[in-house]
Amino acid sequence: MDHFLYKNGTLHAEDVPLPDIAAQVGTPFYVYSTATLERHYQLFTEALSPLPHLVCFAIKSLSNIAVLKVLGDLGAGMDVVSGGEYRRAKAAGVPGSRIVFSGVGKTREEMRLALEGGVRQFNVESEPELRALSEVAASMGATAPIALRINPDVDAKTHEKIATGKKDNKFGIPIDRARAVYAEAARLPGIDVVGIDVHIGSQLTALEPFELAFTKVAELTETLRGDGHNIRRLDLGGGLGIPYTRSNEAPPLPLDYGAMIKRTVGHLGCEIEIEPGRLISGNAGLLVSSVIYVKQGEGRDFLIVDAAMNDLARPSMYGAHHDIVPVVEPAPATAAQEFDVVGPVCETGDTFARHRPLTPLSEGDLVAFRSAGAYGAVMASEYNTRPLIPEVLVKGDQFAVIRARPSFDEILNRDTIPTWM
Ligand code: LLP
Repeated sequence: MDHFLYKNGTLHAEDVPLPDIAAQVGTPFYVYSTATLERHYQLFTEALSPLPHLVCFAIKSLSNIAVLKVLGDLGAGMDVVSGGEYRRAKAAGVPGSRIVFSGVGKTREEMRLALEGGVRQFNVESEPELRALSEVAASMGATAPIALRINPDVDAKTHEKIATGKKDNKFGIPIDRARAVYAEAARLPGIDVVGIDVHIGSQLTALEPFELAFTKVAELTETLRGDGHNIRRLDLGGGLGIPYTRSNEAPPLPLDYGAMIKRTVGHLGCEIEIEPGRLISGNAGLLVSSVIYVKQGEGRDFLIVDAAMNDLARPSMYGAHHDIVPVVEPAPATAAQEFDVVGPVCETGDTFARHRPLTPLSEGDLVAFRSAGAYGAVMASEYNTRPLIPEVLVKGDQFAVIRARPSFDEILNRDTIPTWM
């Protein structure tokens, strides 16, 4: 459920008509709904209660500081994967005690940053990383709380580019080696073993892979406790999928996901952390764009819009589907017309949809790409020297630009011409 609905024939973000934002900000832009973000966060906290838990929003899915502040103010933790994301979480006012640091290639500099600023735990993904963290922490006279990310060798049954839990993926420590690495961690200076971490992939549309993985985590918890480790936290990662179409998709609900967590690991007395990104942010955002031209091609019509693959990479990168809807609600029973929806970038890959049935559209009309809150703005680039597009946050009948469109001067002034020229 989201808060993007037609009212009086016009698509709104909460109580704000999208044409009002377009008139002030220009297209294309991203728009996020505060109420949707809050509701999605709360679904998870409700699903995990009464277990002691922390919902750590995966910043990588949507990292605007204003959005992080919406969630942080509700008590959310943050899952960060870089020094940059760590800085964003802090800038949003989230205390280090609620920041989990994940990622397969943390640098010593990033470790130092988080140890100085405070961190709930590092999710460590390899022995070399563990040794580096021990060195850094010991040299600072600090102690790094850690969970080891174990790779449970489970097929997440999702797109191959976003599956992470099979043994041939680059992520985590093979579960068979876990005991040995925990033993080493316990011996290393500057390291405090607090738990186990697992994340098997993103956009999972069934609970079974999670259940398999969490069952393995539960077994490992008992084994490691038997070895003398004080395992008191389980970080179960993110990955719960969302519906990208309105009609035929019904991924599991957070409530069912929570029940499965209680069933698999609830008896262990551990504090539970989860790292959802997409489920919180995905359907909390739209990409709004306008039609530049309608072009008749060979056997197809192209809808050329002012958003492109550099603004929303998911269709070109993963063949992902995003629903596209007109901002002005079509009259009932308007006949659909098929369009190839494309952007202005000079690549055939800059295609959002092929043969997509839409109501007739013409130059200047506004369209909205749904489910664009997650992995939209954060994956954007300036390819073709197209400025990063603005982000707008709505709350009730108010809206604010939370990242402005850069000017061309700002973009061009980042380049420098060497003095020898
Ligand atoms: N935790 C870890 C360690 C992760 O690697 C990820 C996502 C998450 C949590 C959050 O997963 P979520 O709940 O959002 O599924 N760009 C791709 C998705 C990449 C996901 C990477 N890791 C896409 O647009 O589909």
